[in-house]
Amino acid sequence: MTMNDDIQCVLMTEKEIDGVVSNLAAAINKDYKGKKLLLVGLLKGSIVFMSDLMRKITLPCEIDFMVVSSYGNSVRTSGNVKIIKDLTVDISGFDVLVVEDVVDSGYTLSSVMNLLKNRSPASLKLCALFDKPYKRVSEVNADYLGARLPDEFVVGYGLDYAEKYRNLPDLCILKPEIYN
Ligand code: IMP
Ligand code: MG
Repeated sequence: MTMNDDIQCVLMTEKEIDGVVSNLAAAINKDYKGKKLLLVGLLKGSIVFMSDLMRKITLPCEIDFMVVSSYGNSVRTSGNVKIIKDLTVDISGFDVLVVEDVVDSGYTLSSVMNLLKNRSPASLKLCALFDKPYKRVSEVNADYLGARLPDEFVVGYGLDYAEKYRNLPDLCILKPEIYN
């Protein structure tokens, strides 16, 4: 019994994703020359994307991570996200680029972008690998956008179903019986 037994189909291969990530990195390399770039990854989904993207960025940069949850009662809240793990870097003066796996409802990212904007970064932009625009409730403006996905739940390349399948190299759709 392997993870592969649970896959219905591969939506995007590792190689195809690599091409998308290369294009995003090329645009970032062009735009951030001479800037003080800080990549902010949202855990856990962005981990694979972040690690591939940062190695294609040829400019000096720093990285940091945040864990946020859109649900539940707040410990610290701004907008409507709960910060589970905050940044370790003071982002004032940094050209912050938020790195996210997928924009779906937009709820998480619109809150995170608002929250970070209030911390006086020199600039604040968003790089999202995948876009699922079908159920958007909060407007999100992705400055760098990789690929639009069909209206399906996907796993792999960092994305999970019930915390599993993040380690699949390809972006996949699982067999329906797995989701039920
Ligand atoms: P949003 O606040 O609805 O935009 O939520 C985005 C988050 O939901 C992403 O960071 C993912 O963690 C998760 N998500 C959305 N769509 C998928 C999917 O198809 N597969 C796995 N996770 C997803
Ligand atoms: Mg998730």
